[in-house]
Amino acid sequence: MDIDKIIEEKWTSSTRKGYVAIEGFMLPQKYQDSKTEFDNLKVNKNDVWVCTFPKCGTTWIQEMVWLLGNNLDFETAKQKSLDERFPFLELSVIADFVDVFKSKPDLVLPPRVDDSLNVVKNLKSPAFIKSHLPLQLLPKEIQHGSKTPKIIYVARDPRDVCVSYFHHSTITDYFEVTFDEYCELFLAGKVIYGPFWNHVLPFWKKRHEPNILFLKYEDMKKDLKKVIKEVAKFLERALNEEDVNKLATHLSFDSMKQNPSVNKEASVELVKSIYNKKSDGKFMRKGTVGDHKSVMSQTTISKFDEWIKDNIQGTDYVV
Ligand code: PPS
Repeated sequence: MDIDKIIEEKWTSSTRKGYVAIEGFMLPQKYQDSKTEFDNLKVNKNDVWVCTFPKCGTTWIQEMVWLLGNNLDFETAKQKSLDERFPFLELSVIADFVDVFKSKPDLVLPPRVDDSLNVVKNLKSPAFIKSHLPLQLLPKEIQHGSKTPKIIYVARDPRDVCVSYFHHSTITDYFEVTFDEYCELFLAGKVIYGPFWNHVLPFWKKRHEPNILFLKYEDMKKDLKKVIKEVAKFLERALNEEDVNKLATHLSFDSMKQNPSVNKEASVELVKSIYNKKSDGKFMRKGTVGDHKSVMSQTTISKFDEWIKDNIQGTDYVV
């Protein structure tokens, strides 16, 4: 399959065509234009960052972290959307739809979407910040270790990430690729924030540093209460068994799927309407482990397996 041809022919938005490799990562030209600002962002040691490759369980861990960091304030968590409580650092340079919005005067851009860097700059500490940027592109103060906010990184089986990312693209992106084509783009590191391994492994190597907690989506699925306790310890929050149970119920897939504060239905519906997407896909899609087995062909699974083997060779990372 010709990757460049797929990108040229199927990524039809003008902004999407502007995706370039920045230090090897697929990001929009708009990011490059603001790179110095991202590099020089002043970091506060008391803040908590959630960093992930997309579709690894970001929203799930964000809700857990915010509640743990805010004395289990379920009331505020219900009233204020997670996007507001836990802003996404580079949203305005990533969201293609910001430009489409601007070209449609009848649509009103939701507040804060087109100025996410300033939103983060103006947060009161201790703040909660989401980013999909790889370690190599996080603010210099973090990279050089001169500031050590707490960072929670979540990874997921890349085969499931690919499936989830493809579905995400079918509901929110301005391009039409087949699933097989998407798998090829994923393996070639040409999906946004790719390549996957250049994202995961640098955080994996740093996982023993005291300000970093490295988690896996699969472990959250296997024993959520155990992960809640681990995150609470990392954030230095005391929890009793009743708190853990309450939090685990709140964070269950079924509960989060019904919760408008975290399920992103409003924003997904808005983006679908901008792009005239007919899909009835949801952000809270399946929330399972191993979904790739039901949708990937055996040939694709073999390609992924080979790719995983090559990339984790010489590391102690286990998928
Ligand atoms: S994003 O767009 O990158 O921020 O997406 P992200 O939040 O990282 O990942 C979305 C996937 O996480 C699943 N999810 C959950 N799984 C289990 N339990 C809970 N509570 C939960 N919340 C979100 C969500 O369904 C997406 O995975 P898929 O496989 O597509 O269902």
